[in-house]
Parts: sequence; C-alpha cells; structure tokens
Amino acid sequence: MSDQRIMKDYWNREGSGDKANWHIAHIDDEEEFFASGKKDLDKVFEGDLGRLKSGSTILDVGCGRGRLARALAQARPDVRVCGIDVAPSMIQSAMKANSHIINLSFCVGDGVSLSAFPDQVFDYVYSYIVFQHLPRHITAQYIADAARVLKRKGTLIFQVQGSEELMPVDPPWNNFRKIRYYTEEQAKALVAPPLSIVKVRGKGEHDLFIEAVRA
Ligand SMILES: C[S@@+](CC[C@H](N)C(=O)[O-])C[C@H]1O[C@@H](n2cnc3c(N)ncnc32)[C@H](O)[C@@H]1O
Repeated sequence: MSDQRIMKDYWNREGSGDKANWHIAHIDDEEEFFASGKKDLDKVFEGDLGRLKSGSTILDVGCGRGRLARALAQARPDVRVCGIDVAPSMIQSAMKANSHIINLSFCVGDGVSLSAFPDQVFDYVYSYIVFQHLPRHITAQYIADAARVLKRKGTLIFQVQGSEELMPVDPPWNNFRKIRYYTEEQAKALVAPPLSIVKVRGKGEHDLFIEAVRA
C-alpha cells in the first residue's frame, strides 16, 4: 500500500463512527465540539475576523468535521469558506453536519497537496492542529502549495506545535497521532518565497502560529 493510502486510511478510520469528535478535539458532545471551533478560530485570526475583506475566499486545510470552518462561515456570511481534508469520512460528516450553511463547502484532498484547486483562488489559507501530525516533508509541500493557491497579497496562517528545544527524533512517519514539534526556526524554515513571514506567535507554546503573505 502506498504511503499516501496508509495516511488516508488512518484518518478515515478516525473520522468514522461516533468517536470522530474525540479524535479531533477531545470533546464528545456535538454542541460543545462545534462551540469550541469559535475559540480556536479566534486563536488563528487573533480574535479579529474584521480583518477579512468582504467577499474573501478562505481555505481550511485539514478541516476535519468543519469545526473552525463552521464558526468562520457563520460569523462572516459575506465570505466563502472551503474545507479540505484527506479523509473522506471527515468530509462526508462535515457536509452532513453543516449542510445548512450556504457559504461553506468541503472537498476530499489527496493528503499531500492542494491540487484540487487552481492557482491564485484564495485570499486566506489557514490550518489548525493538522501539520503537527504530518511528516515534515508533507507539511512543507502543503505550505509551498498554499503559496500557489493564494492570490497575490493573500495570507497563510498555520499552526504547528512549538518547542523551545530541538527534538532529536520524530515519531515513525506512519505514526500520525504523535506530534512533530517545531522550534521557531524550524517553523519559519517551512516558509519560502513567494511567501514571506509577517508574524510569529506563541514561540515554544502548544500553538506556534506562523503568518505569511504571498508576494
Ligand atoms: C486533529 S484533526 C483537526 C481538524 C480541524 N482542523 C479542527 O481543528 O477541528 C486533524 C485533521 O487533519 C486531517 N488530516 C490529517 N492528515 C492530513 C493530510 N495529509 N492532508 C489533509 N488533512 C489531513 C485529519 O483527517 C483530521 O481531520
């Protein structure tokens, strides 16, 4: 079985059945689960959704069941939000749970790229608690592809799990539950032109955010 297939199958199992919310956010209750999306979305956008221009197109990479994407689409009915995830089960479940929200859509991705989208179509791309589970080279591939799908002057915001110290050994590539830790330098090194870093938040903390703008 290919590496991509192994990764897809793992997350597909996590998204199947009634434990998906737990696997995603360690919250079982459906209402609490979606309510928690608002709090985490605030971390991504620093509580300032007003910064998003009306009419913006926004991509959530590794959207799961649409926890953050729902909060964003509901708070800003004047933008369009799209979630992509490697797991068909997550996407099926996201579509079902959010079918009432008209400015929100979902699609299944290949797990290594944003090839589902043409060049320069999004104003914002964000990702929360996803890259921390991925082998580092796949995270780097996603960030490079985020630059491709972003419009000029578009913004990428992503989270990885921060560490003050360099972690000597990663978990085996196919252990997707275990975390890959990033020093600030390692996280910054994921970003290359045409992206340039405009902000780093939460150095050494659980949520280390990098914000970059496309030239
Ligand atoms: C911990 S969950 C977070 C989901 C969502 N971001 C949230 O905060 O509710 C991690 C998500 O990343 C997805 N994922 C894992 N590997 C991925 C990959 N290679 N490409 C896209 N999505 C991936 C999983 O299917 C899962 O939905």
